[in-house]
Amino acid sequence: MVSSRAKKVTTHILQEMKRSGEKISMLTAYDYSLARLVDGAGVDVILVGDSASNVMAGNDTTVPITLDHMIYHAKCVVNAVDRALVVVDMPFGSYQGDSKLALKSAIRILKESGGHAVKIEGGKEVVDSVKRILTAGIPVMGHLGLTPQSIYKFGTYSVRAEEDTEASKLLDDAVALQEAGCFSVVLEKIPADLARKVSEKLDVPTIGIGAGPDCDGQVLVLHDMLGITKDFSPRFLRRYADLGESVDGAVRQYIDDVRQGSFPSKEESY
Ligand code: KIV
Repeated sequence: MVSSRAKKVTTHILQEMKRSGEKISMLTAYDYSLARLVDGAGVDVILVGDSASNVMAGNDTTVPITLDHMIYHAKCVVNAVDRALVVVDMPFGSYQGDSKLALKSAIRILKESGGHAVKIEGGKEVVDSVKRILTAGIPVMGHLGLTPQSIYKFGTYSVRAEEDTEASKLLDDAVALQEAGCFSVVLEKIPADLARKVSEKLDVPTIGIGAGPDCDGQVLVLHDMLGITKDFSPRFLRRYADLGESVDGAVRQYIDDVRQGSFPSKEESY
């Protein structure tokens, strides 16, 4: 077993985990306090996802979040983490169509946040950016299938690559990302059979979200799996807690106690 070791998780360890068949756990985090808990619990990879745009800022899409915002969230997470590999999403507009811009943005992320790797969405069209970022020694994670930064191109968040032509394009894109040097590829919301084929084909680990059980690892958005977000219930989401209910109950109790004068008590006063 690799993950039981106390040492820091690296891209090489993830590669070893794939080789030995040990599944990789990944969760998002965006702030110090929750990242501290997630890292302390032993997750292998923390993704500072651009889903921060939705769960932190309340935007409808991931499109508006900026590079400065991502660096801020990544720095908060890095301050908390002792063991996990910290991967930071490159936001919309910081890498598409311009590999020099991609390199500049990735360098800013690593230098200003202390994150360990970046993630970018797309297949063959981002291969030049992947290669150029790698020239600076910055590890890159790919992301295929449902790519939320392209929401206005696709128009929906539905399952991707159900048709044969799209499925075979995705497989080619995955190979292209591996050949370009990606250390891992996220597969989002694609049929489980296709995710299995991609995972068997690639030497680098795949991390699935809504992509079935045969990926080399799994990722969920922390606020979704903890039950903090309520209005998002796709079939792939397993809720491991109902923090939304707990917070609601605690806050209601506090308000009652303040209104009734039962907080603070004598023991809670100086
Ligand atoms: O931004 C994010 O949280 C992600 C995951 C859903 C993979 O990209």
